[in-house]
Amino acid sequence: MSIPVVTTIELQSLPKLTSGKVRDLYEIDDKTLLFVTTDRISAYDVIMANGVPQKGAILTQLTAHWFKVLGERIPGLKTHFISLTPPPSVSDEDKSLIRGRSMQVRKLKVFPIEAIVRGYITGSAWNEYQKTGTVHGIPQPAGLQQCSPFPKPLYTPSTKAELGDHDENISPEKAAEIVGDKYAARIEELALKVYSTAAEYAREHGIIIADTKFEFGLDEETDDIVLIDEVLTPDSSRFWPASEYEVGRDQDSFDKQFLRNWLTKEGLKAKDGVEMPQELAEATSARYKEAFKLLTGKTLEEALGEL
Ligand SMILES: Nc1ncnc2c1ncn2[C@@H]1O[C@H](COP(=O)(O)OP(=O)(O)O)[C@@H](O)[C@H]1O
Ligand SMILES: [Mg+2]
Repeated sequence: MSIPVVTTIELQSLPKLTSGKVRDLYEIDDKTLLFVTTDRISAYDVIMANGVPQKGAILTQLTAHWFKVLGERIPGLKTHFISLTPPPSVSDEDKSLIRGRSMQVRKLKVFPIEAIVRGYITGSAWNEYQKTGTVHGIPQPAGLQQCSPFPKPLYTPSTKAELGDHDENISPEKAAEIVGDKYAARIEELALKVYSTAAEYAREHGIIIADTKFEFGLDEETDDIVLIDEVLTPDSSRFWPASEYEVGRDQDSFDKQFLRNWLTKEGLKAKDGVEMPQELAEATSARYKEAFKLLTGKTLEEALGEL
């Protein structure tokens, strides 16, 4: 029996708070959310009409794995993670709709910036560097090649756009204006720490994390900065197979590259409501699962079997 691809979910037993491009957030109580990841996929900031088989479960289980690894390696790290099991208030029927793809999390005030960290120069950063020698306006040493590592990982925040808008690159100074000086330095420091810890772990598992995006929230009772959202998935990061890595050329990544290439070739980049060919959706799913297996040491089926 094939597993259904789920792009829309309407749970009956909990109120829905909001929907993002990929996730639906339900309210469990005033401190707790049920964070439900669908199989929706976005590229160039628009959502495809059809989904990627099992993507919601892959992202949920991978994020949970990272919370465990990071918690072990970074003393005092706070995350929003509570449990992979839905609360008793969710009906059995609803439970079957969200199997493997839901997480109970602490509901927090979200800092409205994307904390991007780049370990290697690629994508828009490479394009900017070739023109101006800078990345997000920050001067870089001469002589970097495509996909070279930066001398040190770089914090390059962006705004967090409302649904339908595009994120905008900003300087760390502008980020400090948005979140306040009090929190900006702590967010930067934490983002760099989480990146370097994860990059080291991933390298031990055959993956280079070229760059990634984190989100942070504030625990208003304790004033703690908390790692929230999805973390270190192929949606939020560029993962490269370490065994094939070579400086001076583009890398074959574990993410939506197939989809982006196809959209560009078909002239469908950033168009609404595009339906991907089934083989493309399946190839993307297979690629995401490969990254999952390398990073967790388990197949997705094994991880789901443990729930
Ligand atoms: N612990 C949390 N409390 C409140 N909001 C959260 C928490 N973790 C993540 N979020 C928000 O939930 C949304 C996740 O849905 P997603 O589909 O990924 O959205 P987006 O389209 O913005 O990427 C994001 O807007 C994110 O900021
Ligand atoms: Mg998101």
